[in-house]
Amino acid sequence: MTIFSSNPKTRAVVVSVLFLLHQASALVIRAEADPARFVDPFIGTSNGGHVFAGSTLPFAPVKAVADSHSSDNQGGYVSDGSPIVGISPLHDDGTGGGASMGQFKAFPTFCSGGLDTCVTQETSRMVSPVSGSPSGCPGYFSIGLQNGYTAEVTTTNHAAIHRFTTNWSAQSPVLLFDLTNDLSHSFQGNGNLNIQTLTAQRQGQTITRLTGGGEWNPSFGIGTYDVYFCLDVVGVANYAIYDNGAINIGATSLPSEGSPGDQLGALLQMPNGTSSFVARIGVSWMSSGKACTYAESEIPLITSQGFDETQMNARAVWNELLTNVQVDATGVSSNTQTLFWSSLYRSFISPMNVTGDNPLWPDSTEPYYDSYYCIWDSFRVVHPLWTIVQPQAQAEVIRALIDVYRHTGWLPDCRMSTDMGYTQGGSNADSLLSDSFVKGISAGINWMDGYAAVVRDATVEPTLWGVQGRGGIKSRAQLGYIPVGDTSDAVSTVNTVGRSASRLLEYSYNDFSIALIAKGVGDYQGYKYYLNKSMDALNLWDPTVQSAGFTGFIQPRYSSGEFMYVDPRMCSPVLGHTSCYLNPQGGEFYEASSWQYSFYFPHNMQDVIQNYMGGTSTFLNRLDTLFKNGYSDVGDEPGFMPTFLYNYGGRPDKTVDRVLSTLNTYFSTETAGIPGNDDSGAMGAYAVWASLGFFPVAGQNTYLLSTPLFRSVTFTNPVTGTKATITANNWDGATTNKYVQSAKLNGRTYTKNWINHEIFSKGGTLELTLGSRPSSWGTQPGDLPPSITTGGF
Ligand SMILES: *[C@@H]1O[C@H](CO)[C@@H](O)[C@H](O)[C@H]1NC(C)=O
Ligand SMILES: *[C@@H]1O[C@H](CO)[C@@H](O)[C@H](O)[C@H]1NC(C)=O
Ligand SMILES: *[C@@H]1O[C@H](CO)[C@@H](O)[C@H](O)[C@H]1NC(C)=O
Ligand SMILES: *[C@@H]1O[C@H](CO)[C@@H](O)[C@H](O)[C@H]1NC(C)=O
Repeated sequence: MTIFSSNPKTRAVVVSVLFLLHQASALVIRAEADPARFVDPFIGTSNGGHVFAGSTLPFAPVKAVADSHSSDNQGGYVSDGSPIVGISPLHDDGTGGGASMGQFKAFPTFCSGGLDTCVTQETSRMVSPVSGSPSGCPGYFSIGLQNGYTAEVTTTNHAAIHRFTTNWSAQSPVLLFDLTNDLSHSFQGNGNLNIQTLTAQRQGQTITRLTGGGEWNPSFGIGTYDVYFCLDVVGVANYAIYDNGAINIGATSLPSEGSPGDQLGALLQMPNGTSSFVARIGVSWMSSGKACTYAESEIPLITSQGFDETQMNARAVWNELLTNVQVDATGVSSNTQTLFWSSLYRSFISPMNVTGDNPLWPDSTEPYYDSYYCIWDSFRVVHPLWTIVQPQAQAEVIRALIDVYRHTGWLPDCRMSTDMGYTQGGSNADSLLSDSFVKGISAGINWMDGYAAVVRDATVEPTLWGVQGRGGIKSRAQLGYIPVGDTSDAVSTVNTVGRSASRLLEYSYNDFSIALIAKGVGDYQGYKYYLNKSMDALNLWDPTVQSAGFTGFIQPRYSSGEFMYVDPRMCSPVLGHTSCYLNPQGGEFYEASSWQYSFYFPHNMQDVIQNYMGGTSTFLNRLDTLFKNGYSDVGDEPGFMPTFLYNYGGRPDKTVDRVLSTLNTYFSTETAGIPGNDDSGAMGAYAVWASLGFFPVAGQNTYLLSTPLFRSVTFTNPVTGTKATITANNWDGATTNKYVQSAKLNGRTYTKNWINHEIFSKGGTLELTLGSRPSSWGTQPGDLPPSITTGGF
């Protein structure tokens, strides 16, 4: 297990003490001033979690970490003992697909003689971590290497500073800078690397400055991208450029722009006897000049002190965000606290804020965010958390998405490295937008443009509908569903396979999201129209199909009107679990079974329960069977909401049991502690909601209540300063007294088993009284969450 090794733990404590001293003058009494001390960045770094474990700031473009030579290195570092190929400044977090970025690696090494004896080829030079390594905390990562170095890194928004310490003073340390090898080895050329010697104005230091960039492929999308760097090292004795094994001592540029497969970079030799040195790197998506400016302004000192100050600041920035949430941790195990804070932390790593550094439409004055990977994953749990904890950043995300629509014509589902990414299902940006719209997120947002964007998704089909907007629009207009093997949109071949059933379900819910925005902007005709369209999903309800004693499931349908039979268990953990992706044989359901998708009517549950599933008690049995028979999979995002769905059947007590058992069974503080790819923090965000005891029905103004793992939780709205508090009387750690007996909202008796966003936007208190037995609280028809046929929207 990695967690914290002894040396850096001491460092973390020192930093937190310094932080406390630093803050003492402006002290507001807080329950916990340094929640960063509970964050374990290594949760989810093995077993396919793909978590980014390195140093970053909230939604920062720079995410620095050691890169493992491992097939699971989507997040850079993997806790599987694999050799390390370098420490690089750009990563995505928790993604599936290929591994993103990872270029511009700094790698500390020794050479047997002069620079011309250095080994530059990636797999020949890589070196294993020492045991008990690495360690880290928010804003800091450290790894010991078997070549005698300890490599530390800390970051700002657009820059990183490395500190390399060696125990081998008899030799001169060498820093290898690898320009071309990203994690996926996708270098496309356009390489550029220049070495200059400068004298720093402020410190009179001699700086060796490397600048340049190159071109690579995105990890789950189309096209190519270019990105640039600026690396500064002080006190270099000697340097060289390497070009596929040819080492040119004293050369100051590459002989050519390079081509795919090339290994290009530089070697910087420090004087004999150097035991520690630092290197600073800035990154820009626009130019290396901009990368230098970022580095100089964000990390002025290229010294060990500059490192320490950067690290302290990074921790303070994280604590500023995390302390918007305060929990009463009395009686809460340290494991639960670690899981909670680590999960909350991971919910704010992606997407990244690239405002002011957007190469795509540099003249726009709107914010730009990138690394939506993908909205299919993040709209359900990550962005609803941002609406409460970081509403200003969420408003910027909405503005950035609307600007993507303005410049490309449609909203995206997935983007990475400034390129278009593959859409996973529906046009779920529509629901991401409606979620913020109904919650009153408005700062700087042109919601008329937002409305135009979602309407365009629903009405105009792009040629490249596999990477933006929707497909099947024409067929759906004729048939009311998307047929198997739809040919109405055959013009594109990019990411257009299958998923006809799951896409229709998602498009239908996306249409409901559009209806909510239409209503809010006063387009009543639009509201009626999209509400009607949101029922289309039921056209795929085949009332004859049976499975495990239940009748009626979502099935794909041919254009003739005939249903296609797909075993409702297909794509679930018990049948064909890993065969439902974006591949030609991926089938008609994406990453979840018909068993699971047949519950996906977040806007219309009562209709489905009463008129399709056979009534409340059959619905509740069916939900139990989904879990008991292993048809559900919380390791993919469609598996999240069903754990809270019992509230629609008037059984919030069953939600409590299901959510607690899901959390206990599938989530832990181990490196293998999450059930699937973290997916840009989605697994983390689910664990946060499950621990808080309420869950967003993303896209609408509804949170389903379960039971909290804390006696009390307070959210401070960082924009308005208002506070929302949820308290639990008789709380005993969700062991015996876990069921709600009664509730008061702002002092008034409250029997609904759901709340809306008002408590967070205006402030307020929800007081739950818990007991050991299920009660009648939240069970009556008037207590159930909103649903179209029972009113409420
Ligand atoms: C330096 O550290 C490495 C890795 O821990 C170790 O193998 C080596 O023996 C050390 N060398 C010296 C000179 O202490
Ligand atoms: C370091 O010392 C070795 C042997 O003493 C010598 O050959 C080498 O040139 C020195 N390197 C530098 C960069 O001073
Ligand atoms: C996003 O980046 C821009 C430019 O650096 C900055 O002005 C803005 O405050 C950032 N947004 C957030 C929410 O931090
Ligand atoms: C939707 O509108 C169509 C056309 O007006 C109508 O036939 C259909 O019954 C409506 N569907 C629902 C669910 O209201």
